[in-house]
Amino acid sequence: PPGPKPWPIVGNFGGFLVPNFIWRRFGGWGGKDVPKSKTRALISPQVIITEQAKVYGNIYSMWVGSQLVVVLNGYEVVRDALSNRADVFSDRPEIPTVTIMTKRKGIVFAPYGPVWRRQRKFCHTTLRNFGLGKLSLEPCILEGLAVVKSELLRLSEEDTEGSGVDLTPLITNSVSNVISYIALGQRFHHADREFGALLDLMARGLEIIANSAAVLINVFPLLYYLPFGVFREVRQVERDITAFLKQIITRHRETLDPANPRDLIDMYLVEMLAQEAAGETDSSFSEDYLFYIIGDLFIAGTDTTTNTVLWMMLYMVVYPDIQERVQAEIDAVVGPDRVPSLTDKGSLPFTEATIMEVQRMTVVVPLAIPHMASETTEFRGYTIPKGTVIIPNLWSVHRDPTVWEEPDDFNPSRFLDDQGNLLRKECFIPFGIGRRVCMGEQLAKMELFLMFTSLLQAFSFRLPEGLAPPAMHGRFGLTLAPCSYTVTVRPRR
Ligand code: HEM
Repeated sequence: PPGPKPWPIVGNFGGFLVPNFIWRRFGGWGGKDVPKSKTRALISPQVIITEQAKVYGNIYSMWVGSQLVVVLNGYEVVRDALSNRADVFSDRPEIPTVTIMTKRKGIVFAPYGPVWRRQRKFCHTTLRNFGLGKLSLEPCILEGLAVVKSELLRLSEEDTEGSGVDLTPLITNSVSNVISYIALGQRFHHADREFGALLDLMARGLEIIANSAAVLINVFPLLYYLPFGVFREVRQVERDITAFLKQIITRHRETLDPANPRDLIDMYLVEMLAQEAAGETDSSFSEDYLFYIIGDLFIAGTDTTTNTVLWMMLYMVVYPDIQERVQAEIDAVVGPDRVPSLTDKGSLPFTEATIMEVQRMTVVVPLAIPHMASETTEFRGYTIPKGTVIIPNLWSVHRDPTVWEEPDDFNPSRFLDDQGNLLRKECFIPFGIGRRVCMGEQLAKMELFLMFTSLLQAFSFRLPEGLAPPAMHGRFGLTLAPCSYTVTVRPRR
């Protein structure tokens, strides 16, 4: 496919890295709150990548160093590749920093094939079972929300100056606790040191491999062994996370009661025993694999959901009229005396439409997770060589003017019909599409609904007096996070 001319050695990423580096000197790519006048000058990477499609077409090539990357834009092309040609476009590339961290085990970065399929099927079924039965997730999510609400109440009382509250730590803790409950069978208090340390470690690991000189390991893998700076830190973070999770798995093995599994670790250990008993000699189910699956659940399931909730709250303070309409719907259907539950979902179409519209506008995983062509193939008139990295540009799908009217406008009503019923739109794909579609989609939707409705039932959120909203393009990292902001919180009753 055609594409922009690459720079020597660095390829087209020179075009990103150099302005990115300069921009960071002045406060980050939205990393800190950048004055609005400055943000007009530079645009976020997902926007640049989408803009380039206007020049080179919906399928275009770029080079990252010597690696050929093909970017797919717009709904039709992305669906054609990931759904209709899933057999060729469902593999994952080998990215040195990611391979170091994951050993290509787990689910997210595992190569497409029978091992990935079996592991994903097991985890998917287990996650689904958590929605039901005695390990039901709804009470766990609501329990976490009760803590968030009482903390918000306290913080709102302390905020006598009206400078506002940062919602990030509370939401992060609540979301991480859901994964922790599923995977480790434990919920942690938001002030728990051990859990806080694990979350910090994971966040630090992601930050280093995505946003520091450690990205150079992807070009020169031997840098990983350097005994100083971020390179040494990468190895230390890797060792610390390994020690923490291995200790938890060992504790589970020692106290396992196969008749009463407590969480995903127990269920996995039971499956291992069953396969051993059945004489499966080439089973991929092992404690080693389990370790990477847990890491995947934390990494894929916390940042994504947390940032989506933070985006939802930001949109509500920027569009207070929509916030009031959502609250009116919740008041009419749920009332003040009980907390919203999943059974209310079907009766709150405007609320659901608002959640979907925030997800459409913001796309927290804007470029999905890189795919790879597992063989040389013809695709819509182009030859795509085996090993090509494929970037499905989900951002472009959600801003595609051929399928969305006025795509840059925030308008929840686009998801409603004339009678106010919810419309399902197949070009709405914040969780991706095809065989690699997000494994936690159902869980995430449950969390988003319960958190959004519970928070808006209990509180009204506003921007602190005299403060402009942050730049709405967000911070581009592994996920697209909103730029930091604070809100004033007022209990509704
Ligand atoms: C993959 C979005 C929450 C687990 C993905 C992908 C996207 C995505 C776009 C990549 C699809 C592709 O490669 O084409 C989201 C969003 C979330 C969310 C927007 C929240 C709002 C979760 C949660 C979990 C999870 C809560 C787990 C509990 C995974 C896994 C994969 C994945 C394991 C890799 C699937 C595979 O490679 O087979 N997600 N996700 N995600 N997600 Fe999510």
